[in-house]
Amino acid sequence: MALHRARGAAEETTLKILVTGAAGQIGHRVARHLAVRHHVVAAVRTGGISGIECVTMDIAEPLSVRIAVDHVMPNAVVHCAAMTNADECETGRDLCRRVNVDGTRALAEESARSGARMIYLSSDLVFDGKKGDYTEDDKPNPLSWYAETKLEGERITAATMADYAIARTAIVVGKGGIPPRGFACWLVETLRAGKKARLYADQFRSHFYLGDCAAAIGLMLERNLTGLYHLSPGRKESRHAFGMVLAEKLGLDRSLIEAIGMDDAAMDAKRPKDCSLSNAKLVAATGFEPSALDKTIECIKSEFEG
Ligand SMILES: NC(=O)c1ccc[n+]([C@@H]2O[C@H](COP(=O)([O-])OP(=O)(O)OC[C@H]3O[C@@H](n4cnc5c(N)ncnc54)[C@H](OP(=O)(O)O)[C@@H]3O)[C@@H](O)[C@H]2O)c1
Repeated sequence: MALHRARGAAEETTLKILVTGAAGQIGHRVARHLAVRHHVVAAVRTGGISGIECVTMDIAEPLSVRIAVDHVMPNAVVHCAAMTNADECETGRDLCRRVNVDGTRALAEESARSGARMIYLSSDLVFDGKKGDYTEDDKPNPLSWYAETKLEGERITAATMADYAIARTAIVVGKGGIPPRGFACWLVETLRAGKKARLYADQFRSHFYLGDCAAAIGLMLERNLTGLYHLSPGRKESRHAFGMVLAEKLGLDRSLIEAIGMDDAAMDAKRPKDCSLSNAKLVAATGFEPSALDKTIECIKSEFEG
């Protein structure tokens, strides 16, 4: 049921896309990015998003999922809704399963029934962090309940749908969500408030600019990619190193940042030491060019100061 519109001399396909978790850090940016070229309907729990058509959906309630999908009749679904705080997932396992596993199953079933393809967002945290630079061929080994449920969501999506893609995303950095949330936002707010921020010096992640993440998801949709892809800048830094560079660029007090080891912090959910992701498969398929670290920091600076 693709809609078509003329754009200059060329005709391009305009999709009707349902974005779940559209008030979240990634979902909000994805919805805005895709809305430039496509008809986007944003699924939110409450409220609305200015300039974007919205539908309410509680992903943990199968009837709510069915009603929303029937109402929107999308060609494509980008599934960003999830319970994402790993420590809350660890202590609230039942709710986490209902949202991340049962919710994904309900959405995959409804999407398949209505003929829509789906991109499911998964996480770098599905790996145990012993190796780093993980490719799509590496075997996941989740350390936390959050990661277990994200991996189960991948399996359910693959088992339920014929036309799907899994975007296993590295940690995103940028200002996104209503209200804004995520690691960069927490760090900037903490330092602006003059409070101390403790960052792991021995945990390595592929800090991925939020705008690049949205662009990569757009490419996956528009190129009809299917199967599993890692979304990443293809490099890694420690959480502490990234935080220090960001603070310096934003003129924030770097002395408030304390380098700690992962063994120094008592967390409910275990974290991997190095779950950096290779982006070679995505780059080969699409020519995707992620931002270098200095460009990433520059973009984040303009988001927080603009
Ligand atoms: N951020 C990262 O660094 C990262 C890295 C790897 C993978 N991912 C994955 O990317 C996806 C998006 O992450 P994010 O960072 O954007 O997360 P986020 O900011 O926490 O947003 C999650 C969204 O899910 C919504 N949600 C939670 N429970 C729901 C429910 N029962 N029904 C409907 N909506 C519900 C939230 O609604 P409210 O706005 O109402 O709270 C929120 O909008 C997730 O699948 C996550 O696992 C994220």
